[in-house]
Amino acid sequence: MSRKPRPTWFVLAAASFAILLIGAPSVPGQNDPAVSEEAETIVPFALPKSGPFNPADIEIKNDQSITDWFRSAHADAAAEAFRHWDEEEEITAVCATCHSGEGFRDFHGLDGTTAGKVDGPINTGGVVDCGTCHNAGLADIEEIAFPSGLMHPVQGVEASCMTCHQGRTAGSNVVKAVGDMDLDEPNADLRFINPHYATAAATWLGGYGGSGYHYDGKDYSGRFFHARPVSSCVSCHEPHTLEVAFEPCLTCHQADSAEGIRIARQSYDGSGNTSKGIKSDLQANAATLLEMIKAYAADVAEVPILYDGTRYPYFFADANGDGVVDQSDGKAVAYTSWTPRSLRAAYNWKLVTADPGNYVHNPPYMLELLYDSIEDLGGPLGTDIEALNLLR
Ligand code: HEC
Ligand code: HEC
Ligand code: HEC
Ligand code: HEC
Ligand code: HEC
Repeated sequence: MSRKPRPTWFVLAAASFAILLIGAPSVPGQNDPAVSEEAETIVPFALPKSGPFNPADIEIKNDQSITDWFRSAHADAAAEAFRHWDEEEEITAVCATCHSGEGFRDFHGLDGTTAGKVDGPINTGGVVDCGTCHNAGLADIEEIAFPSGLMHPVQGVEASCMTCHQGRTAGSNVVKAVGDMDLDEPNADLRFINPHYATAAATWLGGYGGSGYHYDGKDYSGRFFHARPVSSCVSCHEPHTLEVAFEPCLTCHQADSAEGIRIARQSYDGSGNTSKGIKSDLQANAATLLEMIKAYAADVAEVPILYDGTRYPYFFADANGDGVVDQSDGKAVAYTSWTPRSLRAAYNWKLVTADPGNYVHNPPYMLELLYDSIEDLGGPLGTDIEALNLLR
């Protein structure tokens, strides 16, 4: 990540501004006396020199943007994504890049520190504040590193979305974990590898981004260019509300909703139904894959598995197959009978489902990962894949 150093006043001004808005308890630079002193001299919202004023007569700049942002997930200070570290009272450096504006600026060196890592400690109470995206230093960031090691060129605000919505793993993490272990032999050293959440940018870059586990001998679709003018995150997502307006889609698509959009003339899920949106093919194949992961765990690995999307690490043991997660010392027992084959399929399944916009961000790549994982599990399960009528 190459960039020029930035004056700290900009960052502080932006950060303090957001803090004023959300009433968060953190104070920028509170860990560094030198910075605090400097902050006092540049307070951006000093009291006006004369008054009194009638509040109604004072123009509040950026009113609409603030209101929009304030209602968005980025400003939701009560969300688990921002409160997870409350007990520790400081956000772990490796997590802070994406879980607070302060961490983001630290990571990219926009606060004057070395770029490429969070120096920390990072205060809790932060959100994705204004200064995360409105930061002159962003323009100098030319590329963003992805978990696969890919350096992806970016322009402007894209640098922000691409940093935080890239997930935390790549298919190469799975390759490394399974090494040359026996494909169908449960190995207690294997743990579920979680791609993390809201991984839109990883989906979008497809095979080129390398987020999925890629099966030998298969080709994968790359970045989903979609079509101009919908070729960047903020061309669809209003950057403050984060919402996607449906009207503009109708220039090119015929449908009642985003979920109903389909271009493909073939059916991918074996239903033969091409009147529904492509999302529904993706969902159906994801459901098929999850069923096969369960069947494989029970029949081949011989320890049944349960998925619970509400708690980490999501896959739990159900040794007696009674449909209830096993408990030990009052705690749910994580699944530890992974084989290389089940781990890579579960990884791909979780990656696909970790992005609720997968069907818009890159349907071809998502469908390929699902198909290949289904086909691979089908081998030892003796499934007649042809009979499922799926398309890759
Ligand atoms: C590359 C960016 C990135 C990094 C690094 C990162 N996260 Fe996240 N994390 C996200 C995003 C984006 C979300 C938001 C998902 C959502 O709720 O829509 C998220 C969500 C979460 C959530 C909420 C999940 C839920 O179910 O609501 C937790 C907890 C979390 N992360 C923990 C961590 C921890 C712990 C670390 C460090 C070990 C970490 N994250 C590092 C990007 C990141
Ligand atoms: C996730 C990134 C992001 C965050 C966070 C963010 N903005 Fe923006 N903002 C943008 C982008 C991108 C644009 C450019 C929009 C365009 O060109 O249409 C923008 C545009 C604006 C504009 C110009 C008017 C408009 O709506 O196009 C103002 C004013 C503004 N932002 C203020 C703020 C304020 C104040 C905050 C914090 C309360 C904030 N923004 C938070 C990304 C962000
Ligand atoms: C500093 C990290 C960071 C940056 C930069 C960032 N996001 Fe996010 N984003 C998050 C986190 C964390 C969440 C989840 C927040 C929560 O759970 O409340 C999130 C949530 C979202 C959501 C989900 C909204 C919902 O209703 O659940 C969308 C859409 C989104 N971001 C799009 C974007 C876009 C587009 C950009 C670039 C303009 C961007 N984000 C920049 C971290 C970031
Ligand atoms: C062609 C339009 C389009 C583009 C381009 C696009 N998105 Fe999306 N995105 C959508 C739609 C439609 C949804 C699903 C609707 C929803 O959940 O709000 C979605 C969903 C999301 C979500 C999940 C929201 C949720 O409800 O949890 C995130 C996060 C997200 N997008 C981020 C991004 C990022 C980051 C980029 C750029 C890498 C991007 N999107 C590019 C249209 C787009
Ligand atoms: C300028 C024209 C244009 C606009 C506007 C547009 N799209 Fe598309 N869309 C396309 C094209 C072209 C494809 C096929 C791209 C490809 O396969 O490479 C496509 C593909 C898709 C697909 C995959 C369909 C399938 O069967 O594989 C979805 C879903 C989608 N668009 C959703 C959206 C949404 C949601 C919006 C609005 C936020 C939108 N599009 C706006 C042109 C557009």
